[in-house]
Amino acid sequence: MAKPTAPIIAADAPDAVERAAAVLLADGLAALPTETVYGLAARAQSPAAVAGVYAAKGRPSTNPLIVHGSGAAMLAETGEFTDAARALAAAFWPGPLTLVVTRRSDAQIADAACAGGPTVALRAPDAPLLAAVAARIGPLVAPSANRSGEVSATTAGAVAEGLGNAIDLIVDGGPSPIGVESTVLDVTGPPRLLRPGALEAAAIEAVVGPLAIGPAPGAGPLRSPGLLSSHYAPRARVRLDVAAGDVAPHEAWLALGDEESAAAHTVRLSLSGDLHEAARNLYTAMRAADATGAAVIAVSPIPDRGIGSAIRDRLRRAAAPRDA
Ligand code: TXA
Ligand code: MG
Repeated sequence: MAKPTAPIIAADAPDAVERAAAVLLADGLAALPTETVYGLAARAQSPAAVAGVYAAKGRPSTNPLIVHGSGAAMLAETGEFTDAARALAAAFWPGPLTLVVTRRSDAQIADAACAGGPTVALRAPDAPLLAAVAARIGPLVAPSANRSGEVSATTAGAVAEGLGNAIDLIVDGGPSPIGVESTVLDVTGPPRLLRPGALEAAAIEAVVGPLAIGPAPGAGPLRSPGLLSSHYAPRARVRLDVAAGDVAPHEAWLALGDEESAAAHTVRLSLSGDLHEAARNLYTAMRAADATGAAVIAVSPIPDRGIGSAIRDRLRRAAAPRDA
């Protein structure tokens, strides 16, 4: 049943931490800003709250959530850290890195947070408000604050548009400073890159050496976050790697750089071609391109380096064939 539209409060309001904590302690759902994208937070210990997250997002119960904590000490109560996990946490937390580790048998989190599996994804975000709430009430699950399969939210307004009637509170921290989700790394064994993201693979490799790409061979579906290949999808069809000269007039053009094309509508990811700016603008730009009503969004070629790899990954999934 639809709830009343969730109130939006400012992250720097004096009572923001207290109000978010009160909602979450009552097993409610609160959208909170992080450095990557907005997260839909719920108390990880509570089966009812975690079930509420899956329901609000329309997320398949087979797709596990990330458990967010105020720091490595809190998260070490939930998962077993290998030497590589410890080194990566020390190097990059708080920050946009998610570590998949073996779940501790005494972990105080709802089974559904891990989709019933033996591993758990952990992250200490560089997000003072979320960290303060977690420090007060314990770890929080926080998937991206969008309906499952749709474009992630990087503003409070985008959260409200997608989930405003399904959740209890939205905390507005302004536009997300990074704009794409965390990098997800399986460190249950030799490190494997499950989802390219905000933290570049090269930075991770500088700490733990070369990464394997994708889930381990033979890993069950729960080990593979790429399982749902259509994701981050706008309403329009998405066409990738389209040079300016190949854009059709009826298409909306998601452009990197300052080139002109025949498109009636152009949305610029970054006028100067800066990939960090493009990441920051990605989801808002996809929403804007979709809002033009064009049936097709043509996207400039994005270089496959640095954070460009994460942008390419999201665009590839936005372009993937959809389920009915
Ligand atoms: O930046 C982020 O990570 C954001 C912010 C809010 O923290 N959160 C986010 O959550 O992107 P979500 O739920 O949209 O994406 C989590 C990804 C999914 O691809 C999921 O399949 C994967 O992490 N994942 C979660 N638990 C896993 C596990 N135990 N093993 C493998 N993959 C897992
Ligand atoms: Mg997501």
